[in-house]
Amino acid sequence: MLASDKLIEAFNQQIGNEMGASMQYIAIASYFDSETLPQLARFFYRQSEEERGHAMRFVKFINDVGGRVRIPALPAPKSDFASAEEAVAQALSWEEEVTRQIYDLVEIAKADKTYVGVRFLDWFVEEQLEEVTTMNDLLAVIRRAGPDRLLFVEEYLVRQGTGRLESPAASAETA
Ligand SMILES: [Fe+2]
Ligand SMILES: [Fe+2]
Repeated sequence: MLASDKLIEAFNQQIGNEMGASMQYIAIASYFDSETLPQLARFFYRQSEEERGHAMRFVKFINDVGGRVRIPALPAPKSDFASAEEAVAQALSWEEEVTRQIYDLVEIAKADKTYVGVRFLDWFVEEQLEEVTTMNDLLAVIRRAGPDRLLFVEEYLVRQGTGRLESPAASAETA
């Protein structure tokens, strides 16, 4: 087999982490929906789909290397938020945690000399930089607007076009 049992097990756990994030972002999107903030809701529904895509990358890898996909039980997402700032601050700390999880996976892949896994994880290392940056930016915009002026945040997201914040580097890449 192209990957060690230990790495397959850790990747299966990460499928759970990514699907957990996907569900968490549905909960956050629904909070914004209930607050009649459709752009923020849309932003998090999109993020949720992205997280599912991340999980599916791990599913594909495990199947490609001949491992067994075993999806772990998922904890219930948090559904109640006191404010937009709280919801997005939590999203940021989850992204930071996922970044640490990805780094741990890189360590396992390297220790097991699963170089194909190291290459596979490169994409996630870069993706996490973008995810943390995006969430940081959104949190900064929400804090600047303040709790009574979240419509500014909505306008801001509309101006971003896709509803997703992007760093100048990311725009340069697609240009
Ligand atoms: Fe992810
Ligand atoms: Fe993410």
